Amino acid sequence: MAVLKKTDALGVNVKKLLIVANTPSKNTQALVQAALSGCRHPDIESVEAIHLQPLAASADDVLTADGIILGTTENFGYMSGALKDFFDRIYYPVLEKKQGTPYALYVRAGLDGTGTISAVQKIVTGLRWRAITDPVLLHGAYQSDFTGQCESLGMLMAASLDAGIA
Ligand SMILES: Cc1cc2nc3c(=O)[nH]c(=O)nc-3n(C[C@H](O)[C@H](O)[C@H](O)COP(=O)(O)O)c2cc1C
Repeated sequence: MAVLKKTDALGVNVKKLLIVANTPSKNTQALVQAALSGCRHPDIESVEAIHLQPLAASADDVLTADGIILGTTENFGYMSGALKDFFDRIYYPVLEKKQGTPYALYVRAGLDGTGTISAVQKIVTGLRWRAITDPVLLHGAYQSDFTGQCESLGMLMAASLDAGIA
């Protein structure tokens, strides 16, 4: 099936940036809003960013995405069950078609976070997605600068897509 691409006012293809992140708390909701706000910086012209909960995101959403930001809490030393369910459902349907997809990752972890980063990296390595930057680990007691880090991550990903360098 042909995928019709949106174009902006100058006829440039609008790139789709998909954020797949669980938000079980007010803090994690603020993180995803900050990431979206970074993606929607006024200087970024031809990128459309959307957020989906992992349980609502499908293989088709991934197939039509030009870049992906993954966001998860650490639960019991691993990514959220919701993000794991997302990977379980999309892995084989997208495996051959989305190699090289640029992605970024942020992890909100009250205690540690390393188990989650390594678990996500194993899966995206299998998918052959391409990290555009190091994972962002938002670790320990919640800090107000966590939103700034998510905003910067969103801006970096969106600006890289916009400039055609991601
Ligand atoms: C069931 C459950 C398990 C958790 N397990 C871990 C864990 O293994 N490692 C960790 O760093 N934080 C763990 N946490 C803390 C969460 O990562 C943290 O509370 C969550 O990211 C929400 O952040 P917030 O408290 O800033 O809203 C757990 C939280 C819950 C509810």
